[in-house]
Amino acid sequence: MVLATAGGLALAVGAGVAAAQDQGQVEVLHWWTSGGEAAALNVLKEDLESKGIAWEDMPVAGGGGEQAMTVLRARVTAGNPPTAVQMLGYDIRDWAEQGVVADLSETAKAEGWGEVVPEALQFFSTYDGQWIAAPVNVHSTNWIWASKQIFDELGLSEPTSWDELIATLDKIQEAGHVALAHGGQDWQDATIFDAVVNSTGGIEFYKAALIDLDPEALGSDTMKEVFDRMAKLRTYVDDNFSGRDWNLATAMVIEGQAGMQMMGDWAKGEFINAGQTPGEDFLCFRHPGTQGTVTFNTDQFVMFQVGEEQRPAQIELAKSIMEPEFQASFNIVKGSVPARTDVSDEAFDACGKKGVADLAEANADATLYGSLAHGHAAPASVKNAIYDVVTAHFNGEYDSETAVEELVNAVAAAQ
Ligand code: GAL
Repeated sequence: MVLATAGGLALAVGAGVAAAQDQGQVEVLHWWTSGGEAAALNVLKEDLESKGIAWEDMPVAGGGGEQAMTVLRARVTAGNPPTAVQMLGYDIRDWAEQGVVADLSETAKAEGWGEVVPEALQFFSTYDGQWIAAPVNVHSTNWIWASKQIFDELGLSEPTSWDELIATLDKIQEAGHVALAHGGQDWQDATIFDAVVNSTGGIEFYKAALIDLDPEALGSDTMKEVFDRMAKLRTYVDDNFSGRDWNLATAMVIEGQAGMQMMGDWAKGEFINAGQTPGEDFLCFRHPGTQGTVTFNTDQFVMFQVGEEQRPAQIELAKSIMEPEFQASFNIVKGSVPARTDVSDEAFDACGKKGVADLAEANADATLYGSLAHGHAAPASVKNAIYDVVTAHFNGEYDSETAVEELVNAVAAAQ
């Protein structure tokens, strides 16, 4: 009996493995290595494995994906690209221009992607009229994540203006906590910069400065105020912030050591992964003055040109990413919202529901713009030039006036 059962089990396991290999394999390059990110990726992995497709993982740690893009360049140069690559914004267009990505148009047409993916996302999923990427989510950068424990302890409520934000940070600092959990890495500094540009000048100023790259906006008094505000925020981070990974900064809020973190909604994935609940253990609100606007980034899986034998599994991966049920289960764990407009928000938590509603509102009001920090406002050359100025200023190398001058010059030189 026992032997028979064991044999049966062994047989079942063996058959499962054989089936997985039968349907082919995908190699996926990504930077989802934090606890929350890995949990979300697992939803995709398991979905594919249930369809008999084996998953070869190619993780490259580093928030924002800079390191992943370096590894990708080496792989493509060696003539050995992965099946699919997690990618952001203008990087997708750059790779499309190189003529090395695969065409998904037939699948996209058959599955009706064009009707359900918002235009702002399609700008990055298509190139020269061809679909080249499958968008898995929409994140946004104008969020703040706060410790409910610290807010309760100090009787604080959600700040809705810059002055209220500063008063709140002051109270947290005076009580002996780290007021602002932050990791000193260029892309994290730039993530805060996204929100401060938006809240200081409004979303039209954000567009003029960071999307249109208008020299007048870049060199304006408003931009000087943005840098002054960045310098003020710098006074609320702890001494050990330099180089800290973003998820370790999130952990400081999760553990009640720090009051808040200004970070995109992938931070929510960390709270959820730690078993926390919005409204009970942590709070999510928009950076003061940016409610009604969204600065977004969308993770998309770009398919590279691979051998014919790998093509069916690659197409299945793209189709699976776009399935409405998958988009719900994945994004609930990831902290983002679906990249399709026809997915119900019913199963999402309070922050997720807010994310879905905010995105729809910003899309309808034309207050939805790409995040500079996450590659959706300008090509990498410009993004990196802005990173350099923002980080040098944040670390005290420039005063605000110099930072404004450097910004104008760096953006001009990078174009
Ligand atoms: C973003 C990406 C998110 C998240 C974050 C931190 O660029 O869109 O999915 O992973 O980096 O790694």
